[in-house]
Amino acid sequence: MEKKAELYRGKAKSVYTTDDPTRLVLLFRNDTSAFDGEKVEQLDRKGMVNNKFNHFIMTKLEEAGVPTQMDRLLSDNEALVKKLDMVPVECVVRNVAAGSICRRLGVQEGLDLTPPTFEFFLKNDALHDPMINEYHIRSFGWATDEQVARMKELTFKVNDVLKKLFDDAGLILVDYKLEFGVFNGEVLLGDEFSPDGCRLWDKATRQKLDKDRFRQGLGGVVEAYEEVAHRLGVKLD
Ligand code: TMP
Ligand code: ASP
Repeated sequence: MEKKAELYRGKAKSVYTTDDPTRLVLLFRNDTSAFDGEKVEQLDRKGMVNNKFNHFIMTKLEEAGVPTQMDRLLSDNEALVKKLDMVPVECVVRNVAAGSICRRLGVQEGLDLTPPTFEFFLKNDALHDPMINEYHIRSFGWATDEQVARMKELTFKVNDVLKKLFDDAGLILVDYKLEFGVFNGEVLLGDEFSPDGCRLWDKATRQKLDKDRFRQGLGGVVEAYEEVAHRLGVKLD
């Protein structure tokens, strides 16, 4: 497999074409961004940690019956994935209130959400990823009703699998964001699952061990990601 041209440069990852038109390389960079790219810093080791973390989680999800784009790790910072036609919509599940839902609905951070809640956001930094609903997705043709139903089903299935995985490691899966794409007509989980795109709190102390450390200037960002990886048994070096 030969890596070719840069196809797309995101805030934290770059995407490369390969000599196989059905495959892409995801390169996890050390860039860390928040507030839709307003705050950006380079954090040593973050690309490597997130690449290996993501591969570990995607493998667990595949084993549990969630189809993903993951093929294999290529290097410390790179993974080979299936080339998806991405749906420009972010699927968020929240088990505990934190972040934007607290601002929007005036609820206290830490409020238990039973049953968990689900939200769609449009993937558009210039518009600050506005919240949307299924009617928007239908009217603008971002996905079919069948694809929307499948994305919701898979996003909740991910919750069942990962809530338990993190709980066994002494962590609360507070919330997370997933992105999906279509490959040969099938909806697959794409993008990444890492502490950049979810909230994880220590079960005993409720200490934040995710990108909120960066957003809120708490320090120890990569150390927290490594702590989570260590607890899950992700092999880093
Ligand atoms: P929020 O509280 O900012 O709406 O985010 C909810 C969860 O989804 C949180 O774990 C962060 C993640 N997320 C992203 O990673 N990227 C995004 O663009 C959005 C909207 C959320
Ligand atoms: N992922 C988005 C950004 O980098 C939102 C966030 O995580 O705050 O700006």
